Amino acid sequence: MSAAAPTAAGPGQAPVLCVVGARPNFMKMAPILRAFAAHRPPIPALLVHTGQHYDAEMNQRLFDDLQLPRPDVNLDVGSGTHAVQTAEVMKRFEPVLDARRPACVVVVGDVNSTLACTLVAVKKQVPVVHIEAGLRSGDRGMPEEINRVLTDQVAERLYTTERSAHAHLQREGVADERIVFAGNVMIDSLQQHRSAARAPAATLRAHGLAPALLDHRHGWGLVTLHRPANVDDPATLAALLETLAQVALRLPLVFAMHPRTRAQIERCGLAGCLDPARVAVLPPQGYLELLGLLAGATLVLTDSGGLQEESTALGVPCLTLRDNTERPITVEQGTNLLVGRDRGAILAAVDDIVAGRGKRGRVPELWDGRAAERIAADLWAWLQRRAAAGRGEAQ
Ligand code: UD1
Repeated sequence: MSAAAPTAAGPGQAPVLCVVGARPNFMKMAPILRAFAAHRPPIPALLVHTGQHYDAEMNQRLFDDLQLPRPDVNLDVGSGTHAVQTAEVMKRFEPVLDARRPACVVVVGDVNSTLACTLVAVKKQVPVVHIEAGLRSGDRGMPEEINRVLTDQVAERLYTTERSAHAHLQREGVADERIVFAGNVMIDSLQQHRSAARAPAATLRAHGLAPALLDHRHGWGLVTLHRPANVDDPATLAALLETLAQVALRLPLVFAMHPRTRAQIERCGLAGCLDPARVAVLPPQGYLELLGLLAGATLVLTDSGGLQEESTALGVPCLTLRDNTERPITVEQGTNLLVGRDRGAILAAVDDIVAGRGKRGRVPELWDGRAAERIAADLWAWLQRRAAAGRGEAQ
């Protein structure tokens, strides 16, 4: 391996290289880039998109909604097995690092692109900064858990969204001085765009669906589902769809369907499980559409990490179709309830919410819309300390 020389350049010269790959990265990186630009002096940044998500619905729509700049580099890796996707990102990211020689690489979240770029950078002695560090589900069967643990082990600066993350990192031997509790950048995006959220009726109409579907006295439930543990096994998926069909008898559902889930439903011949009069099936939604559907929902049924947090921030009851969560604060303080795939538990929870006995929560500490600003300030100071230390060593 030919390692590039460590970048001793000060933050004024070398850019910060910011990586995104998949949908949930975009709402985290947008406020970071904005905060870097607003920082005085501005923090020079380059945006690299690995291309892990590439469909217009999973990608360009969100870039537009979040006003993300066009990536400086697109690696165009596309889909593949975990090994292929991770390896492809690594192969294509290495020459970018060599050419750009950044002061550090900023990664967010826990997708394959996060880990792949981290591995390349750390072996080239380029420091890695991980935003949303320390979250742990304790479930190593989840690919994201592996990505989280490994990224955090080698990152040099780790920004956390909730205090439990600090304890996880300490337990795994990460030095205290590397960890900064900064708050939740995803909530920065939510706060910034909330007033521009698209009206749910308009979203349905845009897909040729009658808005009347939402005019039920109980409102609607928003559904998203894409975790391999929920959608890859046909029997598991069939049982979940049957549960959703029963929920839909209580209140209409809007199902924003991930391409992976749609493909699996088609492959398994399960499309008929959901009554179109009670369940509006939509393609993956833009950020502003989803925000509108979420903010107005009676409840959310999801296996997404981001929606657990966004529903807590908006005070919308969330039923998480998983047995664990890496975001425990959404359960302890927010509106989130872990219901797994237990049909009885799901229907009982839906009944409670529809009857007005849903969980009420509060917005967690530092989920205040200013996390990215805090990260920019800290990162700038940290880069300056590193640069000064580098100069000191050279003398
Ligand atoms: C990835 C992340 C997951 C995140 C999710 C959000 C990993 C391990 N997983 O899962 O943590 O919650 O993104 O969506 O990184 N596909 C398309 N178009 C696209 C992208 C994907 O059709 O633009 C289809 C392809 O069939 C692909 C499949 O979705 O094989 C899975 O995509 P992939 O990026 O591997 O994982 P996600 O399930 O999206």
